[in-house]
Amino acid sequence: MYETSINERKLSEEALERQIVYIEKCKEKVREISEELGRPLKCCTQTFGCQMNARDSEKLLGILEQIGYLPTEDEKEADIVLYNTCTVRENANLRVYGRLGHLNTMKKKNPHMIIALCGCMMQEPDVVEKIRTSYKFVDIVFGTFNIFKLAELLYSRWNSNGQVIDIWEETKEIVEDLPTQRKYPFKSGVNIMFGCNNFCSYCIVPYVRGREKSREPKYIIREIERLVADGVKEVMLLGQNVNSYGKNLESPVSFAELLKEVEQIEGLERIRFMTPHPKDLSDDLIAVMRDSKKICNHMHLPVQSGSSRLLKLMNRRYTKEHYLELVEKIRHEIPDVSLTTDIIVGFPGETEEDFEDTLDVVRKAKFDSAYTFIYSKRTGTPAASMDDQVPEDVVKNRFDRLLETVHETAHAISNRYEGKILPVLVEDIDDHDSSMVTARMTNNILVHFPGGKELIGTVVDVYMDECKGFYYMGHRA
Ligand code: SAH
Ligand code: SF4
Ligand code: F3S
Repeated sequence: MYETSINERKLSEEALERQIVYIEKCKEKVREISEELGRPLKCCTQTFGCQMNARDSEKLLGILEQIGYLPTEDEKEADIVLYNTCTVRENANLRVYGRLGHLNTMKKKNPHMIIALCGCMMQEPDVVEKIRTSYKFVDIVFGTFNIFKLAELLYSRWNSNGQVIDIWEETKEIVEDLPTQRKYPFKSGVNIMFGCNNFCSYCIVPYVRGREKSREPKYIIREIERLVADGVKEVMLLGQNVNSYGKNLESPVSFAELLKEVEQIEGLERIRFMTPHPKDLSDDLIAVMRDSKKICNHMHLPVQSGSSRLLKLMNRRYTKEHYLELVEKIRHEIPDVSLTTDIIVGFPGETEEDFEDTLDVVRKAKFDSAYTFIYSKRTGTPAASMDDQVPEDVVKNRFDRLLETVHETAHAISNRYEGKILPVLVEDIDDHDSSMVTARMTNNILVHFPGGKELIGTVVDVYMDECKGFYYMGHRA
């Protein structure tokens, strides 16, 4: 159990002070190299995986920019390339190995280039061993628990000859107040907790992200207030299981209570959260959502499977019936809500009957969309040693049928906003037509309408003219 004692808080402050010293030392070094090369140094960060990693990358980029690197999207012109990796499915790992080969070629042309790897994949001992022995050109390797140490690790690399590898198995510390560089000026993710205690039998996240740790509400509120003062209109509260937030704090606070506090922050217009777990979804939370003016009209509620038998083997701790009851309750209280989900196909032992149950849930729950995944065996998880792994061709066939069903049900409800006027947050100029902008409704669906860049980051009312499947065309009301 994690409790923030006075000592730990002090430790976290000391850790931050130490890093500030290293940031200064690195700044000096970057200035030197830059003078030698006669040009500014550039950094390129690539993020794989979920919002958690995306937020970590903003912190990493914040440190690199403080040190004096200019951001670039082009790896070829970067002096430091940092991959923040994901290992939730095997193909995430394969993508990283594939790209490392290209980086090696680039590094041969630019010997100053530093290659750094961090994130979830690096928490797996066999991955680190492989990098140590077969990818010697990688300069720095660190994990998910010590991203705040980037400046120190970089400085060590400049002062040593070999790879710098620093992996922690767990941490009790949450280092607050690191510099961050947001991707969007008007919206931001905010970690409310780290790690996961659920141990779903297929999932590697608890092993690479450690035990669940909630941040103190006052730090969360302070971070959001600062973000709002800096122009942020929308926050997404992040955690692997947000509705178990706060249970282990010195003075426990529920997720519903936290949401009520966040709602009070003046100037904040929209609140999203990711991800709630069906087993912990309380009536309180549904009521807070229903009564809130700021919480978005969208709930992402991963079901994973529609078969109660498989859900038990997955260690999800709810049944098909319980999930469908929840959906009904949510739709009853918040009639216009948009529901989305995650589904895994091909979990060990999945029978045709189990799969039919999944299709049944998709039809009954009427999801606006679903992220569908083919089960991927992760070494060390209980499911990896289960008998009866489903043959590839059977999985592929089910996966296609699932996609088809998701599309059918989503399509049947997708035009329900046609003819309505809805508030939208303008995110960008339209990729295909510069006289248009792209905006997001509270239910997470995109709409394109005529407008200019002065609208970016503002909330405006838009008339939904026409549904084009997964997005709308509209005009300002
Ligand atoms: N904490 C979140 C999800 C984190 S991982 C939750 O519990 O819902 C995001 C999604 O990846 C999961 O919802 C699941 O659908 C999928 N996933 C996780 N492990 C997987 C595996 N071994 N194979 C295939 N998909 C997986
Ligand atoms: Fe993985 Fe389950 Fe934790 Fe989500 S709740 S991160 S699926 S173990
Ligand atoms: Fe991937 Fe780690 Fe997120 S494994 S899904 S980046 S928590």
